[in-house]
Amino acid sequence: MKLLQCPHSQPLRRPLLLLLLIIILVSPTSALDFLFNSFTTAVNATNLTLINDARIDTSTIRLTNDSNPLSYGRAFYPTTLRMIPTSNSSTLSSFSTAFVFSVLPQISTSPGFGLCFVLSNSTSPPGALASQYFGIFTNATSPTVAPLLAVEFDTGQNPEFNDPDGNHIGIDLNSIISAQTATAQYINSSNGSFVPLNMRTGQNVHAWIDFDGSNFEINVTVAPVGVSKPSRPTLNYKDPVIANYVASEMFVGFSASKTQWVEAQRILAWSFSDTGVLREINTTGLPEFFIESSSSSLSSGAIAGIVIGCVAFVIICGSGCYFVWRKKFREESEEEIEDWELEYWPHRFSYDELKQATNGFSNGNLLGAGGFGRVFKATLPNTTEVAVKSVNHDSKQGLREFMAEIESMGRLQHKNLVQMRGWCRKGNELMLVYDYMPNGSLNRWIFDKPEKLLGWKQRLLVLADVAEGLNYLHHGWDQVVVHRDIKSSNILLDSEMRGRLGDFGLAKLYEHGQVPNTTRVVGTLGYLAPELATVAVPTASSDVYSFGVVVLEVVCGRRPLEMALEKEEEQVLIDWVRWLYGEGRLREAADARVREEYEGEEVEMMLKLGLACCHPDPSRRPTMKEVVAVLVGEEVGAAPAELLNELARGGGSGSGSGREDSREEAPPV
Ligand SMILES: *[C@@H]1O[C@H](CO)[C@@H](O)[C@H](O)[C@H]1NC(C)=O
Ligand SMILES: *[C@@H]1O[C@H](CO)[C@@H](O)[C@H](O)[C@H]1NC(C)=O
Ligand SMILES: *[C@@H]1O[C@H](CO)[C@@H](O)[C@H](O)[C@H]1NC(C)=O
Ligand SMILES: *[C@@H]1O[C@H](CO)[C@@H](O)[C@H](O)[C@H]1NC(C)=O
Ligand SMILES: *[C@@H]1O[C@H](CO)[C@@H](O)[C@H](O)[C@H]1NC(C)=O
Ligand SMILES: *[C@@H]1O[C@H](CO)[C@@H](O)[C@H](O)[C@H]1NC(C)=O
Ligand SMILES: *[C@@H]1O[C@H](CO)[C@@H](O)[C@H](O)[C@H]1NC(C)=O
Ligand SMILES: *[C@@H]1O[C@H](CO)[C@@H](O)[C@H](O)[C@H]1NC(C)=O
Ligand SMILES: *[C@@H]1O[C@H](CO)[C@@H](O)[C@H](O)[C@H]1NC(C)=O
Ligand SMILES: *[C@@H]1O[C@H](CO)[C@@H](O)[C@H](O)[C@H]1NC(C)=O
Repeated sequence: MKLLQCPHSQPLRRPLLLLLLIIILVSPTSALDFLFNSFTTAVNATNLTLINDARIDTSTIRLTNDSNPLSYGRAFYPTTLRMIPTSNSSTLSSFSTAFVFSVLPQISTSPGFGLCFVLSNSTSPPGALASQYFGIFTNATSPTVAPLLAVEFDTGQNPEFNDPDGNHIGIDLNSIISAQTATAQYINSSNGSFVPLNMRTGQNVHAWIDFDGSNFEINVTVAPVGVSKPSRPTLNYKDPVIANYVASEMFVGFSASKTQWVEAQRILAWSFSDTGVLREINTTGLPEFFIESSSSSLSSGAIAGIVIGCVAFVIICGSGCYFVWRKKFREESEEEIEDWELEYWPHRFSYDELKQATNGFSNGNLLGAGGFGRVFKATLPNTTEVAVKSVNHDSKQGLREFMAEIESMGRLQHKNLVQMRGWCRKGNELMLVYDYMPNGSLNRWIFDKPEKLLGWKQRLLVLADVAEGLNYLHHGWDQVVVHRDIKSSNILLDSEMRGRLGDFGLAKLYEHGQVPNTTRVVGTLGYLAPELATVAVPTASSDVYSFGVVVLEVVCGRRPLEMALEKEEEQVLIDWVRWLYGEGRLREAADARVREEYEGEEVEMMLKLGLACCHPDPSRRPTMKEVVAVLVGEEVGAAPAELLNELARGGGSGSGSGREDSREEAPPV
């Protein structure tokens, strides 16, 4: 919900609008365009805002203090950058920046920290922490929306933040846990292969950040000083969600922090422009920093001799072993993974890695069999637990759905979606790697005789979570993402028992307003909207219908179809609830097992919401935005209640529930 705050939900009053207009017209649109080819002591508070331990040192900006164990420092340009061009603009401003930095550890094997480029509405964000938080982020476990966006150049691996390695770049949206990461490397323009770049040797690294506000895209490129800007970025991030993390006026600058381990983070030069033409940094003559060699009683000549001898020996032995191993490895692995495949999101895992992580896809690791294939629990080498969904595709259909799932899942990120981490393909076997959800699917907590019954309050929370996840799919993007298979077994519970929507195998992106062309109906019997029987075009409102079925299931503690029930009028859940509503006995539908926990009005509201979502006329169903407003909103005001009453009544007998329709309609896949 917070992620999706609607900027125009509070109508501006006319005088305020006028005032805004006047301010916009009067204030000059000042461009931000500067070049610091070095930071001499003449560059002082008038040119830079230096916070805490940041200072000018040997014509560079030094961000941390070696003798302070919890040091942090920030350096900002004193003038803000206008990120939202006009008050009602739907896009952001664009800018480009380039800088040269050096990260020099005192001990090369000590933990690393790195530094980050920051866009923030404040030079001192509240709650910012030192150590591994770059002196800019808080330790909040669930990310909140605030105008703070950073590009981290991280020289340490923190597995708890999902860092892929100790030398990576990441996009951080007000959270230390990156929205996307990529290992530091650059493409060699002359032969197109990637060259690794170690950012923690003190060597001068040239970084470029291109922020395209109209496409919500950020490109980050790195290369050693002396190499011209590589043709392809190291990291490419594109997501309209970044609009939530910028305010109209933002400070630009750098931040870094450390613990007792000494690591010198320096900015040597910085060029910035929001007018399109970035001035080039002259990289000749920049200072250079190296890891100090430890002193010893041996003469430096002797040390050099010994070192060269040892290194030569190791290289000879090592390369011999490497070639033998590599030859063997090549024979064993069917397909090579290209370097870039490892670095681009979603991450491509190697088959051997997943085989090892699942104990050879053993039955002991089997979590279940989903619509697509089997699902295994896996433990990655860094102890992260994931779920691996194995898909056998004998037909082209499987492959197509698989690629659709990868493509859409990789781009969708929301707290109420099961996050996809990557994929793997070997021959006919395809695999998807997801975050592991320790508490399984929602149906296990409600139907039959669950080990532990989900309480009423928790049911409401889970439904609100699912509504927010689905709202994100429907309204959080330029495109509507239709899920197509909402059902209680596709809703998973994370470690905190919060609901997350999973299984995007059937999701397909299509442009707003454009009719998607689909040739067959997919979905699950009992959850299919009646109109799909005739038009076979899943839409956002057919998702709303399926969501309505889930609401009724959760509130009534009953499956949508229970053919075993004696009374025929009770077999189809929607018909039964609607009939009870007609009789004025709606509350009797609710799950008797949790009767002590709820209030009658709340139950009635939820049942009416479920019925409203299942309205036979797709155009009369509420949107997910409206559903979220009812479920998450502060109070259930009079207006929505009236609306629900009106909508819940819809359809009357038979025609609506799609009982006949859904029986005849496409079988589950
Ligand atoms: C900054 O340096 C300039 C000269 O380089 C000097 O005139 C000015 O007073 C200095 N400002 C501060 C705040 O130190
Ligand atoms: C720093 O500020 C001073 C005083 O405003 C200005 O004269 C100088 O050009 C600035 N230097 C840079 C590199 O922007
Ligand atoms: C670093 O911190 C120590 C102790 O807090 C202080 O005495 C020293 O002046 C600082 N060094 C620099 C270069 O700011
Ligand atoms: C707001 O948008 C409308 C239509 O897109 C435009 O005509 C108007 O000038 C904009 N107002 C401001 C303050 O930018
Ligand atoms: C920055 O944004 C946050 C969250 O919107 C707000 O609470 C804070 O007051 C803003 N700070 C400044 C200096 O504008
Ligand atoms: C976050 O940091 C604060 C201050 O250092 C500390 O009191 C709190 O326990 C930390 N919370 C977590 C979840 O680590
Ligand atoms: C890039 O590739 C060319 C051609 O193979 C090679 O000569 C050059 O050394 C490479 N550059 C780097 C930095 O690896
Ligand atoms: C490109 O050049 C680098 C360095 O010369 C070399 O290591 C690499 O194998 C080359 N890649 C290709 C695809 O030729
Ligand atoms: C970012 O990189 C992508 C892929 O290389 C490219 O298509 C796009 O134009 C770049 N965008 C910017 C703003 O540089
Ligand atoms: C770059 O700097 C070097 C040394 O500081 C100087 O000799 C050279 O002329 C500069 N190059 C340009 C293009 O300004």
